[in-house]
Amino acid sequence: MRYLPCLLLWVFARVWGQSEAQRENFPFRCLQISSFANSSCSRTDGLAWLGDVQTHRWSNDSDTISFVKPWSRGKFSHQQWEKLQRVFQVYRTSFTRDIQELVKMVSVIHYPIEVQLSAGCEVYSGNASENFFHVAFQGECVLSFQGTSFQKAPEAPPWMESVIKVLNGDQGTRETIQQLLSDTCPQLVRGLLEAGKPELEKQEKPGAWLSKGVSPKPGHEQLQCHVSGFHPKPVWVMWMKGELEQKRTQRGDILPNADGTWYLRATLDVEAGEEAGLACWVKHSSLGGQVMILDWGGRQSSVGVISGVVAVIVVIILSCLVFCYVRKRRSYQDIL
Ligand SMILES: *[C@@H]1O[C@H](CO)[C@@H](O)[C@H](O)[C@H]1NC(C)=O
Ligand SMILES: *[C@@H]1O[C@H](CO)[C@@H](O)[C@H](O)[C@H]1NC(C)=O
Ligand SMILES: *[C@@H]1O[C@H](CO)[C@@H](O)[C@H](O)[C@H]1NC(C)=O
Repeated sequence: MRYLPCLLLWVFARVWGQSEAQRENFPFRCLQISSFANSSCSRTDGLAWLGDVQTHRWSNDSDTISFVKPWSRGKFSHQQWEKLQRVFQVYRTSFTRDIQELVKMVSVIHYPIEVQLSAGCEVYSGNASENFFHVAFQGECVLSFQGTSFQKAPEAPPWMESVIKVLNGDQGTRETIQQLLSDTCPQLVRGLLEAGKPELEKQEKPGAWLSKGVSPKPGHEQLQCHVSGFHPKPVWVMWMKGELEQKRTQRGDILPNADGTWYLRATLDVEAGEEAGLACWVKHSSLGGQVMILDWGGRQSSVGVISGVVAVIVVIILSCLVFCYVRKRRSYQDIL
């Protein structure tokens, strides 16, 4: 009994923590893509995303960061952005030079070279945040930044050892990265979440419709369920038979519509004639806990059912009329 209040508090904290985390689930990711065709030609481009929304762009052809959304400046002042831009300009120049030097020094590296860098952070309630920094070389993860220093990835080639040693010897760079990741990034993201709140948290209800596609298997049919116009992106779509999930449901990629909402198609291959009782279920945060259900049978025979019902009603009315008429005639006959 003595532990019950503690336990309740723990459960409450977990549930509360979860809903908080869900509400603020907007990781900020910066992507750097560098392509080196040869020793004299290279380019470095950058992109940034908050959750599923692109917020910034930095082309090789430009010295300035482009703000994709009206709220992409967040709560940073003009001076703060100027300062950040200068840091990135210096970084881009020295990064390009460093890679070119590396190719000269390490005999096993040859052009063309692709380097990708993914870095960013996610903020939580309170002052908590997490950050990440990963680098891929020729498509393989080679290093990450953890805490205060660079670490070699397990699958990295042996020459990375000396690169990491050099990088970790440069205290200025380490401090700059640490500050960008653990101070600047969360501060920027809090500002973006506030400034972009109406767009990030907008709720748009999905529309849905069914259609029949061609199945690759002979004697099979492909049932298609299209769900479109929803926001935010997370959505649950499943083909069901009664209450039973059809695990063979194939989900496509969630694709963007031009208006900032999303589209998803879920298909199910069934043997021809086995469509009876199947329905497409859609769950989405905008539906307030309700499930949208589209019956395959309903789609197929809704017109048939309605005319059937109408026919039955007409028959009942007609027989009623005939019955009454006959009874009336009879009563007249009785009188006559
Ligand atoms: C480097 O690559 C670029 C683009 O592929 C090409 O136009 C250029 O001629 C190349 N330069 C050398 C020195 O190979
Ligand atoms: C990328 O930018 C650098 C620096 O401005 C420039 O020297 C280089 O030619 C550019 N690369 C391409 C492919 O345009
Ligand atoms: C939140 O973190 C920042 C930087 O890490 C710090 O300056 C600030 O004082 C913290 N605020 C609170 C309420 O802990």
